[in-house]
Amino acid sequence: LRVLVLAGGLSYERDVSLRSGRRVLDALRAVGVEADLRDADVALLPALTADPPDAVVIALHGATGEDGSLRGVLDLCDVPYVGCDARSSRLAWDKPSAKAVLREAGIPTPDWVALPHDRFSELGAVAVLDRIVDRLGLPLMVKPAQGGSGLGAAVVREAASLPAAMVGCFAYDQTALVERYVPGMDVAVSVLDLGEGPRALPPVEIVPRNGVYDYAARYTAGRTTWHAPARLDAATTAQVTEVALAAHTALGLRDLSRVDLIVDAEGRPHVLEVNVSPGMTETSLLPLAIQAAGLDFGRVLGTLVSRAAR
Ligand code: DAL
Ligand code: MG
Repeated sequence: LRVLVLAGGLSYERDVSLRSGRRVLDALRAVGVEADLRDADVALLPALTADPPDAVVIALHGATGEDGSLRGVLDLCDVPYVGCDARSSRLAWDKPSAKAVLREAGIPTPDWVALPHDRFSELGAVAVLDRIVDRLGLPLMVKPAQGGSGLGAAVVREAASLPAAMVGCFAYDQTALVERYVPGMDVAVSVLDLGEGPRALPPVEIVPRNGVYDYAARYTAGRTTWHAPARLDAATTAQVTEVALAAHTALGLRDLSRVDLIVDAEGRPHVLEVNVSPGMTETSLLPLAIQAAGLDFGRVLGTLVSRAAR
């Protein structure tokens, strides 16, 4: 079996992706899988057609890796890959679209407004922002409609800081997602299908040292502590797990995903987003969850690539 790990790319999460890619490569090689790492650059297409690998692992984050476009290219080249297909990746990647599907399926997700930058300018920024605060209340969470790793995201506690948060967000995307901020425990549930149907791994509780799980808290060792499994009672754990599996299924995902949620003070889960290309760095949550489930990261990847290659 020859496996190609794709990492890098030109998204804002390039550095994260290179770290994920190297860890995936090491883990695959550690279990005896022949694997190579390469950047998803312009030479990829000729390389895939000249010498197609048996399977690809997509360790690309951000656009291209998560928006379905690279998966579409792999489909075109008839090269199998681990993970969600192009259509469901595109759906999960666009937060307003994904949230609409989740809500339609009865899965709790915080109230939101999606605001394209051109509408924001036309209608007059102040009036638009006032209406959003009237509708959703405070505090708010502002994030790019398409993005990851906390880039361009901000918690807004007072109306006066909303404009700056919007500007920060529009630096990363044309559309901002403004969401009701739900205080509570940050929890990530990884969903894995090794051939017996999707199952949820133990929920991981995220405790950022400075209270905000931003880019630095995610990727700097020592900035965040984790509890795997999360410190939740059995009933809440069951509910969180059920909601995560429901979100994975509602979005039509396959093989693996990571569902990010808030568990509020009453123990109710609220799904924030579902990641089709979860981070696999030394400080990422999916590898932690795999470990907490008593599984080996390399062996899990080995099973996924064998299944994809068939
Ligand atoms: N966007 C990063 C890679 C994550 O969700 O883990
Ligand atoms: Mg994400």
